[in-house]
Amino acid sequence: MRHLLDTRTLARQDALQILDIAEDMADAQSRKVRKLPTLLGKTVVNLFFEDSTRTRISFEAAAKRLSADVINFAAKGSSVSKGESLKDTAQTLEAIGADAVVVRHPGSGAPRTLATSGWISAGVVNAGDGTHEHPTQALLDAYTIRKRRFGADSRGRDLAGVRVVIVGDVLHSRVARSNVWLLDTLGAEVTLVTPPTLIPQDVSAWPVRVRYDLDEALAEEPDAVMMLRIQLERMHAAFFPSEREYTRRWGLDAVRMKRLPADTIVMHPGPMNRGLEISSEAADSARSTVLEQVANGVSVRMATLYMLLAGEQTDDELNRGD
Ligand code: CP
Repeated sequence: MRHLLDTRTLARQDALQILDIAEDMADAQSRKVRKLPTLLGKTVVNLFFEDSTRTRISFEAAAKRLSADVINFAAKGSSVSKGESLKDTAQTLEAIGADAVVVRHPGSGAPRTLATSGWISAGVVNAGDGTHEHPTQALLDAYTIRKRRFGADSRGRDLAGVRVVIVGDVLHSRVARSNVWLLDTLGAEVTLVTPPTLIPQDVSAWPVRVRYDLDEALAEEPDAVMMLRIQLERMHAAFFPSEREYTRRWGLDAVRMKRLPADTIVMHPGPMNRGLEISSEAADSARSTVLEQVANGVSVRMATLYMLLAGEQTDDELNRGD
């Protein structure tokens, strides 16, 4: 795998391989010494043109646990403010020795441009581009669902028959897009629940069912309910009901939680708008996987960097750190 740019074109076999390698990485992290020498001598650059907490620190932790050197670049405070282009910024980082570039950018398609323009030869990982995709978020979500469903017996399994309801601001959500494509590739059934003003125009071409009533969708007893952040910063006021109205109709709270089966998990990619799309009772409940998703993200990102940078090593070599 040269790059990870999206889940729409990610082959089922590659997706399952990332999830299975992430299992190995999780096992390695449960040992006394969590660090593997697998990527010693490699350099990973986190190239972030938008704010991030989870994704940036997760990629940093993942690279460091594989013994790679890490350079963190944030556009804020850099020469981007003086007008430096994406091309010049990326080439500058490659001149310093980047083997992989993890890029977050407000422009949909920026990671693909980096990967295909010939500007740099490093592997590119999309860490979230505009409203397009966030593939490692979807992979860590799939890993979390699989782990909750199959536990220690997860390796090699897909998500056939698993029912996932994705709720909220689908229009602006790269997380929703990446999840829809990956969950479909892995055999899950996806239902989107969203206000009519926050559904993409091309949704009829997506492998999903669409509902506008959250209570009807929850009555179908899904296996996972994935709440999305309301992206007020990307939104025109005309597209959004009042916050109160939104919470009443599409928010997940303790009352709705009580109606769900005991083994339905509640997911959120973060950051959460507590009290808007999800109440604190729901976010902090035993069925919430919010922090589990964060922890699993490190394993999934270790697997992704391994796939990009470690070449054709066997599992034995991986464990030895060859
Ligand atoms: N889920 C996610 O992308 O979070 P951050 O914006 O904090 O990276």
